[in-house]
Amino acid sequence: MSERAECIIFANQKGGTGKTSSCLAIAGHLVQKGYKVLAVDIDPQANLTLGLGFSKGMVAKTMYDAILNHCKGYEGVSIKEVVIETKLENFHLAPAESDLCVAEILVQDAQDRTGVLKQVLEDVISLYDYILIDPPPHLGLLMLNGLRASDQVVVPVDAGIFSLVSLENFQNYCDEMKEMTGHAIEKKTVVMTRYARPGFISKLMRKTCPPQEMKEMLGKMYEHVFFVPESTEIYDAHKEGLPISHFAPNSKISNTYRRITEHIVSLDKTVQL
Ligand SMILES: Nc1ncnc2c1ncn2[C@@H]1O[C@H](COP(=O)(O)OP(=O)(O)O)[C@@H](O)[C@H]1O
Ligand SMILES: [Mg+2]
Repeated sequence: MSERAECIIFANQKGGTGKTSSCLAIAGHLVQKGYKVLAVDIDPQANLTLGLGFSKGMVAKTMYDAILNHCKGYEGVSIKEVVIETKLENFHLAPAESDLCVAEILVQDAQDRTGVLKQVLEDVISLYDYILIDPPPHLGLLMLNGLRASDQVVVPVDAGIFSLVSLENFQNYCDEMKEMTGHAIEKKTVVMTRYARPGFISKLMRKTCPPQEMKEMLGKMYEHVFFVPESTEIYDAHKEGLPISHFAPNSKISNTYRRITEHIVSLDKTVQL
């Protein structure tokens, strides 16, 4: 195990683009490769927590308590007390519940309000190879804290004209974060989710969300772009509380996420200039 985990955030300010699904799938593949992984849910919607089979009320402590621990005047706990085991060996979860939106307000008064999550993760950073962060879909303080704590960003986008706009906004936001905090994330991977080949979609979809056009544009804009096929298996995997890597290991979608995982591991090994 490396001395410090590589932290990866799955971010985009657009909802429903496959952030949580990608986070779960890649976490599962990292575990299959023999790495020790912590998935951190910092979205008050708690979909990552749900996707691993933990519904409301099933967990005693959550990321709300871990964040509170670093807010002056409040009593919280170390993230070590929040982390729970999942069905899979070497795959741990720091769960969330809806009260996390209150933590986002309290963080505003912290001395280093964009660095709270980074401080929270210090307690466990040497215990894992990879820490994967699933933030909410808006550009608020939780997202900013997630980005500040991360070495890599995976940006899931869906096929649609608004995706390119949100990608551009997100890029500007990262540039602003660099100016504000000095922290830049150089290792960036774009993942287009629910990708359907032009011959396999309706006329309307071809007109409103032209996948081939999106594919070409993304390829010109970004060095590392992957295309995840549309699949109902991902929905079934979440229902079972398992990552797709373990639910349907040899499916097309799982194989695609395996290749993305290999790419992410290769980025981790590259020396930063
Ligand atoms: N490749 C895919 N094929 C089909 N459905 C998908 C795929 N990826 C994600 N989904 C579905 O899309 C919805 C939104 O995905 P989710 O990962 O929750 O997005 P986000 O976290 O960005 O809001 C979920 O219902 C999920 O099951
Ligand atoms: Mg999500």
